[in-house]
Amino acid sequence: LPNNYSLPSGDKIPSVALGVWQAGKGEVGAAVTTALKAGYRHIDGAWIYRNEEEVGQALKASGVPRDQLWLTSKLWNTFHAPEDIEPALDDTLAKLNTEYLDLYLIHWPVAFKKDSDNVLDEELTANPYQTWKKLEEMVDKGKVRNIGISNFNIARVKNLTANPLKYKPAINQVELNFWNPQPELLQWAKENDLLLESYSPLGSNKQVSESLAVPEVKKISRMLGLTPAQVILSWHVQRGTVVLPKSVTPSRIVENFKLVGLPQPLFDMLEKAATSHPPKRVVNPSEYWKLGFDVFDEEW
Ligand code: A2P
Repeated sequence: LPNNYSLPSGDKIPSVALGVWQAGKGEVGAAVTTALKAGYRHIDGAWIYRNEEEVGQALKASGVPRDQLWLTSKLWNTFHAPEDIEPALDDTLAKLNTEYLDLYLIHWPVAFKKDSDNVLDEELTANPYQTWKKLEEMVDKGKVRNIGISNFNIARVKNLTANPLKYKPAINQVELNFWNPQPELLQWAKENDLLLESYSPLGSNKQVSESLAVPEVKKISRMLGLTPAQVILSWHVQRGTVVLPKSVTPSRIVENFKLVGLPQPLFDMLEKAATSHPPKRVVNPSEYWKLGFDVFDEEW
């Protein structure tokens, strides 16, 4: 399996990251420390996870040189207006104790009015070009090495890239797991030189036990002497995505970093099992945010 993927900038992004969504205060720092000791060099975080300060402290204490780390963060929905972006980024940089991010993503294709309680900014949501232009400026200023998007479906990626971009999105971070494997999006992304990152790769805490109990997963696990989680995470990397498993449990953090290529027939068996049931998305805040539309609607 590839240890990393090359991006249009020439940077190489490690194929496995520690995900820190839902890793709480008082536990996330220890998770980062364990991960770095286990060999991880990629941490996937976000401003809204409210744990960047503790992640930053653990990074600093680790003594791992900055140029050996890959740090991703994400611009929250309330900061899409061009004048709000650099302050939001600076806040993240300060919390992480770093001068630059390796990757900065637009967290959702949804802009909220600043300081509002999820009040939609219709203009910036309909066309994120002004937001993107400011992110390009952050690249030119050296505060960010690569920029990308998250939770964009094909229609929304096309809507963004229809603008005259200086830098194309290098990454789209989306939900990918056994229940929602999105083969069309994966195929389209490959054809369009857009690397996908798999969040909630085990199905997030809601679906993780069901994922690990899938008969094909268990069968492959027995045949290869891997844990069910290792089978699923290996499948993600073999599909050509970056995988971002979240764990705060030391033994799982170590386990999730030891991935191997599955023999083709076993990979095919798992791919078929994942793609031959009706897809079920685990993460969709559209209703919670009272958007009045589904953010993943392909008809949009
Ligand atoms: P915990 O953090 O308590 O170890 P996802 O990455 O799909 O969002 O899944 C995260 C969930 O899966 C968390 O509840 C995490 O629990 C659990 N998890 C992570 N790695 C493993 C593993 N190797 N085996 C079993 N459960 C895991």
